[in-house]
Amino acid sequence: MQKNILLLVMVFSILSCSKPKEKITQVSPDGKIEVEFFSVDGNKPAYKVLFNQKTVIDTSLLGFEFSENLSFQKEIETLGTEKKSFSEKWEMPWGEKRIVDNTYNELTVKLKQNTSGLQCNLVFKIYNYGIGFRYEFPEQDGLKELVILDEKTQFKLTGNHTCWWAPGDWDIYEHLYNTTKFTDIDATTKRNHPALAQTYIPENAVNTPITMKTDDGTYLSFHEADLTDYASMTLRIDPKALTMTSALVGSDITGYKVKRSLPFETPWRTIQISSSATGLIESDLIVNLNDPNILGDVSVWTKPKKYVGIWWDMHLDRRTWAYEGGRHGATTAYAKELIDFASENNIQGLLVEGWNTGWEHWIGFDDREGVFDFVTPYPDYNLPEVANYCKEKGVELIMHHETSAAPRTYEHQLDTAYSLMNSLGVHAVKTGYVGKIIPKGEYHQGQWMINHFQKVVDTAAKYEVAVDAHETIKDTGLRRTYPNLMARETFRGQEFNAWSPDGGNPPEHLPIMAFTVNLAGPMDYTPGIFNIKLKPYKKNNQVNTTLAQQLALYVVINSPVQMVADLIEYYKGHPAFQFIRDVPVTWEQTKAINGEVGDFVTIARQERGSDNWFIGSITDENAREIEVKLDFLPAGKKYEATIYADGDDAHWDKNPTSYKIEKQEVDNSSTLKLKLAAGGGAAISLLAK
Ligand code: NOJ
Ligand code: CA
Repeated sequence: MQKNILLLVMVFSILSCSKPKEKITQVSPDGKIEVEFFSVDGNKPAYKVLFNQKTVIDTSLLGFEFSENLSFQKEIETLGTEKKSFSEKWEMPWGEKRIVDNTYNELTVKLKQNTSGLQCNLVFKIYNYGIGFRYEFPEQDGLKELVILDEKTQFKLTGNHTCWWAPGDWDIYEHLYNTTKFTDIDATTKRNHPALAQTYIPENAVNTPITMKTDDGTYLSFHEADLTDYASMTLRIDPKALTMTSALVGSDITGYKVKRSLPFETPWRTIQISSSATGLIESDLIVNLNDPNILGDVSVWTKPKKYVGIWWDMHLDRRTWAYEGGRHGATTAYAKELIDFASENNIQGLLVEGWNTGWEHWIGFDDREGVFDFVTPYPDYNLPEVANYCKEKGVELIMHHETSAAPRTYEHQLDTAYSLMNSLGVHAVKTGYVGKIIPKGEYHQGQWMINHFQKVVDTAAKYEVAVDAHETIKDTGLRRTYPNLMARETFRGQEFNAWSPDGGNPPEHLPIMAFTVNLAGPMDYTPGIFNIKLKPYKKNNQVNTTLAQQLALYVVINSPVQMVADLIEYYKGHPAFQFIRDVPVTWEQTKAINGEVGDFVTIARQERGSDNWFIGSITDENAREIEVKLDFLPAGKKYEATIYADGDDAHWDKNPTSYKIEKQEVDNSSTLKLKLAAGGGAAISLLAK
């Protein structure tokens, strides 16, 4: 049984409490990362970050602009400082590892703005793999709430780093990531829109995570953690000053970015720092900066799972979400066929989309308010019968709620929709927010939507339902606090390969995602397409990887819910399908073996509660040879390795389905040599003998 328990003691020690004049510093437990806090001209609060004694973030200002001419940027007095050390180990109920070490040194600086008297504490947590800092506004006399017009947190770079970035769109994360030098970031012209349901990029800013590599080989990734009751942070680019400044997502309705009653804290502003690209993947910074689990033992109703679905059919235009037209996908008969397939193939879930009324008015309708109904099935779909058949066969039904970005309609029905699920014994839902938010003027990533999303997660928890949210707020590690928040789609998913007019996701897409979006949390990418060329359904689209890469993604992508996305006829009788049957989705531990951002990545993970290991390795459009030392295996144990590799003539475009399967006995002294084709990959199961 998985229990979310605090495993080890916390060690608190107050090292100093003083009123400083000069800079105040704090270091990471291993001493390699150092944060300096100080004031610059006009008593402006500032910080700097060093890594191995070298500056990685240069003097950067901190602060806010509030309504009513209140500001927190200059004439700031330091009232006192406090230093602490903390260490604990906690257990993930599901995820990329079981035990998480949370060890850091903390620095709190108590600040006061001299003209207004406004007080704010700045808290830094310094880990061996990066830093997080946030602003805390304590209760103070005569001040009930603050209206933030913008946050003014700077990140000043030390050079023109190579950056992997996506535009700071307030409404969607489904742009491709770009690779450019910092000074070439141009979010307002280098955007590709034809496939996006909605988009709004007000200025030259990027979304986070943004990952960078310095000329001397240091890797940085900027993001945020614990984003609750606040607005998402984009980063405004100043190429001349080599600076990024927080620019919060706003609302045309309220005109401000955030409104909060005191006391409150901002999300953590995070910088992952590593001397290797793989170090970014092995870091627990984002999840550790969230509060511990408040839901208790969720093991019975937040089950990690592979799942099939009535889904790819619709993206291929083979069937429809809507009932009308004679090609409706969500029928009782089709659901039962998939349940049988799932139960025979070690697949734990079934997603059914297009089961409820409203789809006739989904896309292209301006007024989507009141359209979707989350309790009424179409006439050819018998929901209780499907739910019962699932139970009989040991498969979990995943409910689907496409809100069409009409959150008020959804909120209105939340209790009835979730109690229906609870009454049917359904413990999982996939939500979706395609389209421009209603009311007009709110954006997907503003405070209003973030609070809506939290309401959904809270309601889901009340009815014991786990959430997989699409087109939602970027992941900021909330899965630690709310382990029913299992995965998200806040990036370009596999679906773009089925219909995007821009040719879908290029071969470098996942080798970028592994070092950007997936650092933030689990991704519901929906891998496993075997019919790569999508024939006979699509003329102009295909998946831009080899079949072997599709297998490798089950290990490379960190997610406790992984779709087995293709039509089941492409799996039946296919020898490579054995890997999908075998691969688990929740892990004892994870090792990032090798990789470079946007080029390639190899990850090994140990199955939770077993000695078995699985390896996934993927490359971009370049073929390459990869060596994997198996020295992470326990000494003295023999394993049967089954290697699902690209065929000698495989190529993501010219010959994507060429593959081979080889078996060999290995132990911890073995080294595997993998040949990855262009756009290819390798998937390996290591089953303990
Ligand atoms: C977009 C989601 O990402 C996709 O998975 C889903 O099928 C459609 N919306 C319909 O809800
Ligand atoms: Ca989507």
